[in-house]
Amino acid sequence: MRMRWRGLTLATGAILFAAGAHAAPATPEMLANACAGCHGTYGGSAGPTMPSLANQSKTAIVEAMKKFKSGERLSSIMGRLAKGYSDAQIEALGGYFSAQKFHPTVQTVDKAKVARGASLQEANCSRCHLDDGKDGKDDTPVMASQWLPYLQMQMADYLSGKRKIPEKMEEKTKPMSREDLDALLHFYASVK
Ligand code: HEC
Ligand code: HEC
Repeated sequence: MRMRWRGLTLATGAILFAAGAHAAPATPEMLANACAGCHGTYGGSAGPTMPSLANQSKTAIVEAMKKFKSGERLSSIMGRLAKGYSDAQIEALGGYFSAQKFHPTVQTVDKAKVARGASLQEANCSRCHLDDGKDGKDDTPVMASQWLPYLQMQMADYLSGKRKIPEKMEEKTKPMSREDLDALLHFYASVK
């Protein structure tokens, strides 16, 4: 049995191994191995449609996993995957990735948009996306150095209503133009 995802072929062995009921409980490192193909061994994303998990708050990772598991958060892959993990395993995974070092991503961004985004973020986003998006507190994900295509996909899902947008965040995003929101994503993608 193999799982295919956007050209990426994953042997499900690692996942079954991590999620299965084996005699000795899996260590956080062992559990995290099943995430490495997409999120990197130390939580640095392996590709442009996947987020880095390194240095995210434990709460943000755990909350996201629970929302994927219940189907509350839209996903291409995580919904199916999260169902294989118990709450205790999700806690262990959150602990593992939150302890990894911030992962800078080298990618191409539009300089003019970065400058525009930089001028907008303080007034509109910095209350929750702290320290230029490098610091995620509580349930707020780290935005800095995430892949631009990933951020753009998530923003498109929020704007179309496919992903439930936090109420207080929507108060900020609603009055903004699509261009300004995109400029903000270029800014966050550029932060190292
Ligand atoms: C086959 C690739 C793949 C694997 C394996 C995978 N993920 Fe993901 N992950 C994704 C993608 C893609 C997303 C974006 C949501 C979606 O479309 O599913 C994501 C999103 C996430 C998010 C949301 C982060 C944010 O910034 O909002 C968390 C948390 C997460 N994954 C945790 C995990 C954990 C923990 C594992 C291992 C148990 C794992 N993922 C394994 C591809 C993967
Ligand atoms: C009141 C707090 C708050 C404000 C203000 C806010 N956000 Fe957020 N943002 C959040 C939270 C919480 C999440 C995770 C929510 C979830 O799980 O759906 C999030 C998630 C995101 C994500 C998805 C990232 C990921 O990895 O899943 C994007 C993109 C984003 N915000 C952009 C912005 C932009 C751009 C602004 C400024 C215009 C902004 N946010 C203002 C709280 C906020």
